[in-house]
Amino acid sequence: MNFFIDTANVEEIRQGLALGMVDGVTTNPSLIAKEKKPFDEVVSNILELVSGPVSLEVISLDTESMVSEGKKLASLSDNVVVKIPLTLDGLRATKELAHAGIAVNQTLVFSPLQALLAAKAGAAYVSPFVGRLDDISHHGLALVEQILAIYANYMFETKVIVASIRHPLHVLDSAMLGAHIATIPFKVIEQLAKHPLTDKGIDMFLADWKNVPASKKK
Ligand code: G3P
Repeated sequence: MNFFIDTANVEEIRQGLALGMVDGVTTNPSLIAKEKKPFDEVVSNILELVSGPVSLEVISLDTESMVSEGKKLASLSDNVVVKIPLTLDGLRATKELAHAGIAVNQTLVFSPLQALLAAKAGAAYVSPFVGRLDDISHHGLALVEQILAIYANYMFETKVIVASIRHPLHVLDSAMLGAHIATIPFKVIEQLAKHPLTDKGIDMFLADWKNVPASKKK
């Protein structure tokens, strides 16, 4: 299972890389805006650090502009993946970009049929947003299960990036379902490592260690 980090913050990416938990990065316009720096500056800092896939999202809404914006983004580096929202214009843009050999991450996917269309259009990745579905009382992970079943039925090569992850159980359920990738906020990556019995165990070992007699050797 690949872990992408869902952030445009370079410090979080650096820390995630040091842990060995960053196989790629996903950004979106909201995450870029949080950095309060120009887009090109944020992106060049990320691309300097990361060799895995880095998703950068277009902000155009019509096919022609999405394609030209996507081509510009793709020209920044070989590992750029162009993130395109799943609209009819977005599907047309995905088809064109895929035809030109550019990897597309079809984003803002909320139904299995949208994911089927993304795969047929040639998207390299599809991003179902599980947290936002949970927010409106739909089971986000049920969507992931449906997409994985449909892709397996027809042997689509499109990889599923579970997105809008809010807590560790989203990662656990994604892994149990065999999702290819989870894109995870840094805070959740840290949560995955934590367990109170690990901390308690360390305290007990260190307390017992104090009872080990000192060596008699001089
Ligand atoms: O990658 C998409 C993801 O960042 C959306 O997350 O928490 O804004 O729903 P969220």
